[in-house]
Parts: sequence; structure tokens; C-alpha cells
Amino acid sequence: MNKNYTIKISLIVALGGFLMGFDASVISGVVKFIEPQFDLSKIQLGWAVSSLTLTSTLAMMIAGPLSNRYGRKLILKWAAVFYAVSAVGSALAPDYVTLVIARMIGGIGVGASLIIAPMYIAEISPAAIRGRMVSFNQLNIVVGISVAFFTNYLILHFSQLDKQWVSSLGLDVWQWRWMLGLESLPAVLYFAFLFAVPESPRWLIMKERVQEARKTLLKVVDEKQADLDILAVKESLKTENNKSRTPLSALFKPALRLVLLIGITVAVVQQITGINSVFFYAPMIFEQTGIGTDAAFSQAILVGLTNLVFTILAIIFIDRFGRKILLLVGLSGVAISMFLLAYGFSMDAAELNPWLILIGIVGFVASFAISIGPVMWVLFSEIFPNYVRGLAISFVGLINSGVSFLVQLVFPWELDAIGSSATFLIYGVFAIIGLVIIAVLLPETKGRSLEELEKQLIK
Ligand code: BGC
Repeated sequence: MNKNYTIKISLIVALGGFLMGFDASVISGVVKFIEPQFDLSKIQLGWAVSSLTLTSTLAMMIAGPLSNRYGRKLILKWAAVFYAVSAVGSALAPDYVTLVIARMIGGIGVGASLIIAPMYIAEISPAAIRGRMVSFNQLNIVVGISVAFFTNYLILHFSQLDKQWVSSLGLDVWQWRWMLGLESLPAVLYFAFLFAVPESPRWLIMKERVQEARKTLLKVVDEKQADLDILAVKESLKTENNKSRTPLSALFKPALRLVLLIGITVAVVQQITGINSVFFYAPMIFEQTGIGTDAAFSQAILVGLTNLVFTILAIIFIDRFGRKILLLVGLSGVAISMFLLAYGFSMDAAELNPWLILIGIVGFVASFAISIGPVMWVLFSEIFPNYVRGLAISFVGLINSGVSFLVQLVFPWELDAIGSSATFLIYGVFAIIGLVIIAVLLPETKGRSLEELEKQLIK
């Protein structure tokens, strides 16, 4: 099997994850500039931030089915175009409305690449390294988030220098435009690199383009395995008549009950345990411990680094130990960290121990990153049968994104109404519930081909 080719292709496709992470988090640095510049109300500001999630959720609904029809690769190329248009459009936006529209265009790219990239990678990877390859996507999301924080910081830093080149680039007055515009570079690169990527062999077989599929498969596995794969995919497609449009009702057939239940559970648990509350409000959470704004900022960077390191560990472990072990260990870690935070925050402000809070947050992010963060995408890409994969990933991705939106939305209110301690306690309880359901429902999926899994999981 040609690992290098698979790695190269997976890395290119996973750049979609990088763009997604960058695009979603770059706005955090933009906020404080556009508020005074466009004289925004709080609600308008909220829109500037959340409008992207709205269109990304919508895009998820249609990207899967569209990719069944027109191919995975074409949809990824369009996502790259949307990212580029969004970056240039928001950098040049003359007014608030244009900015929001430009961000929403980016959201379409986010939603599409978020689900198509892992699906494509799973469809081209040999079973033995599939988990690792799909996890590249999560790694790229995480790197994208961190790089945006870093470039925002750099731009801010440069803008304060009293240098000729700073003013000739307009860095001193247009900080936020530079922050947003920077993304056009990786977006254009993504578009160009995608030309080097072949169409997904499994999709080609679905479209009865078997010779092309075989050519691609031969770059990834040997001749014997390629023929076996083709046979298996054909076999898997026989069970359902292969229409280019699968109706939504196909998802709710009794045969798919188990995999759908697993998909929905994992989608909900990944978000309802609070990862994005912690990410987007990390400095605020640390500030509550009384350590000051500067320390809060550097501890937030620590959170980003922890996320990165433990995602890499997940990539190393996922095909060795399997998905289920990582989930069980990780979700236990999530629950313990959350209970620690609930305990830590239950003390009076004067007695609050900042170390305890730091350990709780870092422990939580580490536990997320080594388990449900990447493992969710891997499971999404492998538990559904070929004929319904595109639609199913759209559906569970939509649930994941919807829960993420709600959790972020109520977090500030929750802190205010019931306090930090109760909020984290609730996250911990959700982790335990998720742990139990996953322990009961989920079979191990590592090392088996997508078609073997189909036979095992679909009754
Ligand atoms: C989730 C995002 C989250 C990120 C954190 C992704 O898998 O979908 O909502 O912000 O992980 O690393």
C-alpha cells in the first residue's frame, strides 16, 4: 500500500479543516475594531460573529447530497472559492451589511468542507490507517484556530510599530481588514492543490466509473486489494438501488437505526459537554479567577496548545487502540475535569483556587482532543453505508453544528443565571450520559474496511 500518496492527498484535502478553523476563530480579533467603526449594537455584533455558523449549518444540509450527485472533489473546490470570496469580500467591506454577507459566504465553505473533507479522506484511505488520515482534518481545524489567534496577535503587534512599511500597508488603520483578508491566501492555495486530488474511488464506483476508480485505488493499495475493494463497494451498492438522489426518509429505515443512533449521540455529546464555550470564552473564564487579563490571555493560549498536542496523540493512538477506548477514556476525563471545575467554582471568590480551574480547563481540553474531538469525525466517515453516506453525514453534521450554536448562545446567560459551578456540573453530567450510551452501543470500527463495517452494522 502506498502510504505516502494517501498522506499527501489527505493532507491536501484536510486543508479544508484548516480554513474552517481559521475562518471561525479569526473573528475574535476583529470584533473590537468593527464595533466602534460601524457603530454596532450588541445584537449587530452578535450577528457579525454568529452569521457564519448559520450559513454553515445550512450548507451542511445540502453539501452531502450535492457531493453524491456531482462528486466530492467539485464541492470541495466550490468551498475553496467561497472561502476566497469571503476573505476578500470581508476585508474590503465598505459597510456592516456587506461584511455580514461576506462572512455568510464563508460559512457556506465552512459547512461544506467540514463534512466533505473527512468523508473524502475515509473513502480514499486503506482501512489500516483510515482513522489517522481522517483525524488530520481535526488536526487542521485545531491548527487553523491557533493560527488565526496568532496572526491576529501579530497584526495587532505590527500595527503598533512606528515603521514606514506599517503605514504604507495600512496595517496601522486597517488591522481587522488584514486579519480577515489574510485567509484568501490559503483559500487560493487550497483551490489550486485540489487539482492534484483524484475523485473519490467509492464515489466513482457509485457512478459506474469503475475503470477510473481502479486507477485511483491502484495508487493507494495493490492490485489484489483494489479489485477486492471494487467488488465490495459494488456489493454494498446492490442492497440499495443506486439513485443519485437518496430521499431523507432512507436515513430512518430500521436497518440504519443503530448507526444513526450512534451518529446522533456522538454529534450531540461532542458539543453538549461545552468545548466551544470553553474555547470562545476561555479568557473570560480565567479572568473570573482573579488572575488578571494578561495571565488570562496566556492561559487561553495554553488551552490552544493543549488542544493541538492531544489531537496529535489521538492521531497516533486511534488506529492502534481503536475508537472506543479513546472515547471511553476521554469522556471519563471530560467528566472528571468538569466535576473538578464545578467544585473549584463552588468556592467564594476569595478562596477560589486559580490552579484548580486551570487544571480543570486544561484537563477538559486534553480529554476532548484525544477523544470525541477527532473520533467523532472518524466515526461519521465510517459507520454509514456507501449509498447513504453523503446524506447521513450532512444530517449528523447538522445536529452537531446546531447543538454547538445553542450551547454557545446560552453560555453567558447560564453563567449569569445559575453560576459557573452548576454550568460545569451540567456539562459533566452530559459527559457521563454520553459515556454510558457509547459504552453500550458502539462496536469497535478500527482496521475494517468500510464495506465490512457496513455488513456488521447494517442489519
Ligand atoms: C468541533 C468544533 C470545535 C473543535 C475544537 C471540532 O471537531 O466540531 O466545534 O471547536 O473541534 O477543536
